Amino acid sequence: MVGNGAREHAILHALARSSHQPELLCAPGNAGIADVARVVPIPVDDMPALVNLAVTEQVDLVVVGPEGPLVAGLADELQEASILCFGPTKAGAELEGSKAFCKEIMEAAEVPTAAYRVVTTVEDGLRAIAQIQHGRYPTVIKADGLAAGKGVIIAADEHEAKAALETLLIEHRFATSQVVVEEYLVGAEVSLLALCDGVRAVPLASAQDYKRIFDGDGGPNTGGMGSYSPVPAIDQQAAVALTARIHQPVLDELKRRGILFHGVLYAGLMLTADGVKVLEFNARFGDPETQAILPRLKSDLLELLVAASTTGGLDGIELEWDSDSAVTVVLASAGYPESSSAGDVISGLDGARSDVAVTHAGTALNDDGETVTAGGRVLSVTALGPDTAAARVTAYAALDTIDFPGRQLRRDIAEKVVHT
Ligand code: AMP
Ligand code: GLY
Repeated sequence: MVGNGAREHAILHALARSSHQPELLCAPGNAGIADVARVVPIPVDDMPALVNLAVTEQVDLVVVGPEGPLVAGLADELQEASILCFGPTKAGAELEGSKAFCKEIMEAAEVPTAAYRVVTTVEDGLRAIAQIQHGRYPTVIKADGLAAGKGVIIAADEHEAKAALETLLIEHRFATSQVVVEEYLVGAEVSLLALCDGVRAVPLASAQDYKRIFDGDGGPNTGGMGSYSPVPAIDQQAAVALTARIHQPVLDELKRRGILFHGVLYAGLMLTADGVKVLEFNARFGDPETQAILPRLKSDLLELLVAASTTGGLDGIELEWDSDSAVTVVLASAGYPESSSAGDVISGLDGARSDVAVTHAGTALNDDGETVTAGGRVLSVTALGPDTAAARVTAYAALDTIDFPGRQLRRDIAEKVVHT
């Protein structure tokens, strides 16, 4: 496993349940991951060291958590070394690495998405906005490259749009030379992830995440403050139908271009009055969606990941899900998302209940062997229940026993769920 977040911890928990009893290795991991896997302190961007570790340890499968190493070509390097990898090659990961490429593929594959233009100057950007939006605001302006979730600007008027275009195209805030200008969509946001074996997409259960730091979707965007799964509006039957309209045409279009996409194709969807539209694709498991999705999976995740890493391997595979719902709530450290704090001792971890899963993100062990904060998002707690209401009661009860100075959390995760 490559990565060090709660997403990776949740994947490892699911792999540990496999009937094949795999030996688990994680680089670089964190204090919680060390309980389920042997951790090796190699950062996710040290590609030669990761490949070398995989070769010397003779690993059977590498699962890549974050997008950075995928966009940088880790899957290609592993392929060169004849090591099976769950995660797309650099060419496939461009779906996440370049918003312009993502839009081009969607257009070619006739996947419903917001109207858009790719521009390289402020003047062209303003002209494109006028064409797409017919003078109406807000509008959406997106940096082309990876921007850790900070490259999307919703501009309320022409003044803000111009300022955003200047920030991206003149100041080069995200080292990008092109920008996607996009029609503003209104609706509920849902994440639908699919396992892909190069030719076929098989949906995971639907989920919703909460991106803003404060209750009621206030304050700045974060890496994600909570999630729940499934979304009642998208049951497994609806997920299959959506995958046929959204993920499968993208896989087919990539294949036409000689790209076999292996891994998770994550669609960020907007349920608009005009039907479902794609906001973005990611080339990996979502965080914190994964923490809510995987505890409900009854199928053997290891078998699924191996199958997806082999072309056509998912053929005939049906996923089995627990009928329970899952709710995940994230605990963040003081200052997040602008900054984060480190070294605060986390209490109550030992008493965590057996019906909840605690997954670690920014945690470390101090010199006294205590678990301390070491980043913005510190850990997440997932609980299962017969419905989301029951699951959220259990999740918050468990959370209230875990504490550290400056602890931040949202109290409204899964309070309202998307029904239609
Ligand atoms: P993205 O990284 O493209 O998913 O964008 C990040 C967030 O910006 C999304 O989760 C949405 O909340 C918002 N967003 C992106 N594109 C649009 C759009 N076309 N209309 C409205 N909101 C959007
Ligand atoms: N939950 C948003 C993401 O993983 O990108």
